[in-house]
This record gives sequence, C-alpha cells and structure tokens, in this order.
Amino acid sequence: MLTEDDIKNALKAVKYPGYSRDIVSFGLVKQIDAKDGAVSISMQLTTNSPEVANQIKSESERVLKALAGVSRVQVEVNAQGAPATAAPQSPWAQQQKVPGIRRIVAVASGKGGVGKSTVSVNLACGLQQLGAKVGLLDCDIYGPSIPLMMGVHERPTISAEEKMVPPSNYGVKLMSMGFLVEGDQPVIWRGPMIMKTIQQFFSAVEWGDLDILLVDLPPGTGDAQLSLCQTVPLDGGVIVTTPQEASLGVVRKGIGMFQKVNVPILGLVENMSYFTTPAGERIEIFGHGGGQAEAARQKVTFLGEVPLFTEIREGGDRGVPVVISAPNQPAGQAFIRIAQTLRQQLA
Ligand SMILES: Nc1ncnc2c1ncn2[C@@H]1O[C@H](COP(=O)(O)OP(=O)(O)OP(=O)(O)O)[C@@H](O)[C@H]1O
Ligand SMILES: [Mg+2]
Repeated sequence: MLTEDDIKNALKAVKYPGYSRDIVSFGLVKQIDAKDGAVSISMQLTTNSPEVANQIKSESERVLKALAGVSRVQVEVNAQGAPATAAPQSPWAQQQKVPGIRRIVAVASGKGGVGKSTVSVNLACGLQQLGAKVGLLDCDIYGPSIPLMMGVHERPTISAEEKMVPPSNYGVKLMSMGFLVEGDQPVIWRGPMIMKTIQQFFSAVEWGDLDILLVDLPPGTGDAQLSLCQTVPLDGGVIVTTPQEASLGVVRKGIGMFQKVNVPILGLVENMSYFTTPAGERIEIFGHGGGQAEAARQKVTFLGEVPLFTEIREGGDRGVPVVISAPNQPAGQAFIRIAQTLRQQLA
C-alpha cells in the first residue's frame, strides 16, 4: 500500500527548475490521492511559465511511475493565474532567485546573544578557507555586528551600473546596515522599511559570483526574518543555541519558523558549550549536551559544538575571527569542522 508520505518522498527528487530545492519543500504539491496503484497529484505554481510547468510535470510523472506498485499516474500542474485555480496570491510569490548566488543560508536563533554573528563570521571565513566563494549579509538592521567582527568600516562604492559594491575582508564579501549609517546613529524603522532594505541588499548589491551567501539574522522571528524569506528562496537555515533550557525552548520557535516557510533546516550549532580553565578544568556554565539532545528530538542534524574561548570574544571585538587568527587552535578548529559539515550538507 502506497501512502501519501511515500509519494511525497518520491516527489522530493524533483527539483524546481533552476533551483537546488525540491518541489515539495517549495510547497507546490497541494493534493495527493492514491488508490489501487493509481496516483493522482495536483500542484500549484507561483509562475505561469509553461516550460517550468512542463518540466515539473514530466519529472514528477517519471519518479512516480518508477515507484513499486504504481500502475497509473496523473499529474496536474496549475500555473499561477490559471482560471480554474484562482488561489490567493502566495506571500512567497515575490521571491526571486539572485543571479550568480548558488546558495543562500540563514543563521538564526530564538534567543539573542547566543552567538549567531560570531558563528556567521567564523563559518563565512571557514567556508572561504575550504575554497568556497563566500558572501556574508548582515540582516540585523537595528544592531549590526558584522562590520565590527569582520574589521570593516568602509562604505560600499558604487559601480558603473549604480549598484553597491560590497566591501570585503579575509576573502569574504560583506554587506551590512552598519556600512550605510553614520557611526553610532540608531536606526528607528518600522517593518516596511526593513523589508525594503532587505530587498535592496539583494537587488542593489553587486554580489557577483558566490557559492554561498550566509545571512546573519537578528534574534527571534520578526520583520527581518519574514522579509528575508519573502525576498529570496533560502536553501537552508542554521540554528544557533546555547545548551541551557532557556535558550532551547526558543530554539523550537526558530525551527518552527523555518518549517512554516518550507526552508530546510541544515542543522543546529551549540555555542558556549563549556569553558576550560587555565588549569585545564572543564566547567559547563550553561550545562552541556542540550543542543545535541534537542537536535535529536527535532530530528535535525547536529552540526557541532563551540566551547567558550576568550579568543573567540577577543577576535570578535578586534575584527579578526579566530578562524583567521588561529585556525589550528581548538577554537578555530571547532568552527572549521562545522563549516566542513555544512559544506557537505549543501553539496
Ligand atoms: N564561543 C564563544 N566564546 C566566547 N565568546 C563568545 C562565544 N560566542 C559568542 N561570544 C561572544 O558573545 C557575545 C555575543 O555574541 P554574538 O554577538 O555573536 O551573539 P548574537 O547571537 O549574534 O547576538 P544578537 O542576538 O545580539 O545578534 C559577543 O561578544 C561574542 O564575542
Ligand atoms: Mg548578532
């Protein structure tokens, strides 16, 4: 007996044309029926391109026919605006893939101050050292920390095409609100302004050719997160947590946010796992292993743990991430291992 899940799983092999994501994770599959070997599915596209519809239809038919026990297959693909399915405009209909950027991965957490920005900069530098072309976008509009942590305080220059050229350091291209406002001026904006700025971080920045663009998010599930998800199709999310229950409780919200918008969760990083005193004694300030246990509970990959190291904090304040200043020391190694796992996840 074929179940709906069997059919969904089979359809996950069908990628949306031109994307690394599959049609199921994009939420295109609206209805599945299976009876006595006859499978019928219905999909709703957010485009009206006949090529896309045809390709999805024929690929889906191919994978379904290959399933054991399937004798007949019917695939209905409704283009956007098709009269029979005048569905309300999807909030994701405005999403646009950015030419030249192969993967976009967001770094998020439920709680603030758990080390998202620290993880973002070190992963960006780590991935760069592993040979990837990397960009790092700071989507924390109110409290950007990427300029400080990457040691860059210059304004973007403007290209002949009137786009912003992202400054770079350690081989990583960077964009942040911190480059666009004066010194310590606060940004006091409402949601629509945040949305507009985040759209411009993609449409008005000359990112060029990137294997991966990491996006550092502010804490929580607010305007920036929603705007990002509506602006570009994300290839995945990385969740950062500290080991204690107070942070893990909110992690579930972060995971839930990505699931709601069909963004695959690439894994969980436990930061500030433990501290080793100069005498070599290991102290688990926030407890230990909570991240790994939570990853197992939520059935997401555990990407690794990063202990508390004074060098990590100093590196952040100095603008020299530990992955750059001491790649072979334990702190740098912890991030490089996570970068390696992440790279495999995205391969
Ligand atoms: N593993 C670590 N060892 C030592 N210090 C750390 C570690 N991780 C983060 N820190 C320090 O903790 C502080 C908070 O980290 P960070 O700014 O990366 O958190 P965040 O989650 O991005 O915060 P926010 O929610 O405000 O964006 C920083 O001063 C950073 O240097
Ligand atoms: Mg931050």
